Amino acid sequence: MRHPVFARIYARVRPQMDDHGAAEHRRRLLAGLTGQVVEVGAGDGGNFAHYPVEVTSVIAVEPEPYLRSKAEQQAVKAPVRVEVVNGTADRLPLESDSVDAVVTSLVLCSVPDQAVALAEAFRILRPGGELRFYEHVAAAGRMASVQKALDATIYPPLAGGCHLHRDTAAAITAAAFTITDLDRFDFPPTGFNPAAPHILGRAIRSEAS
Ligand SMILES: C[S@@+](CC[C@H](N)C(=O)[O-])C[C@H]1O[C@@H](n2cnc3c(N)ncnc32)[C@H](O)[C@@H]1O
Repeated sequence: MRHPVFARIYARVRPQMDDHGAAEHRRRLLAGLTGQVVEVGAGDGGNFAHYPVEVTSVIAVEPEPYLRSKAEQQAVKAPVRVEVVNGTADRLPLESDSVDAVVTSLVLCSVPDQAVALAEAFRILRPGGELRFYEHVAAAGRMASVQKALDATIYPPLAGGCHLHRDTAAAITAAAFTITDLDRFDFPPTGFNPAAPHILGRAIRSEAS
């Protein structure tokens, strides 16, 4: 999967977004995690610095080669062991019931099929394991029309396949996860931003498959 222009822009913009507040969202996203974690669509590795030391290791799956190379550079500096691998959300290179947590941040907007990606996350999680998510989602009101128009035209090709008008919390619930924490907020807090609102939270994979 190659998005060379988007990848280079994202790798420049992401640290700026982090400096303007997104780093705190990443810290909250990962707080309290322990054990074996899989991060899906790790991008240039923006989350790596925020993993708690109680995490045993992270397998960071990233399909875009430029972003993957940037992630490899971040992995070396991470406070926990991070292995960066090629792969996509619909086919994760892991055994079933094998990991304690799956992390998605700003990724479920870009996968071709959220139901397939979430079913794959469910498959690799051990019973009782956690999905941690930080995503921009569908807006209500007038902005919903703007998002739908952009999704049908220029936005996905310009933004590496990203879609603006997705009800990701509903997709997580439909994939048989139980959402236990859900914060919904605008980021940045003011100004015109079609990639808003954001949701940040935690969902549990049920004990039965
Ligand atoms: C907006 S970036 C977010 C990157 C990173 N997670 C972060 O929080 O900064 C979207 C990421 O999703 C990845 N992606 C797109 N489609 C994917 C797929 N089908 N499977 C896994 N990752 C995918 C892209 O390569 C990119 O790294």
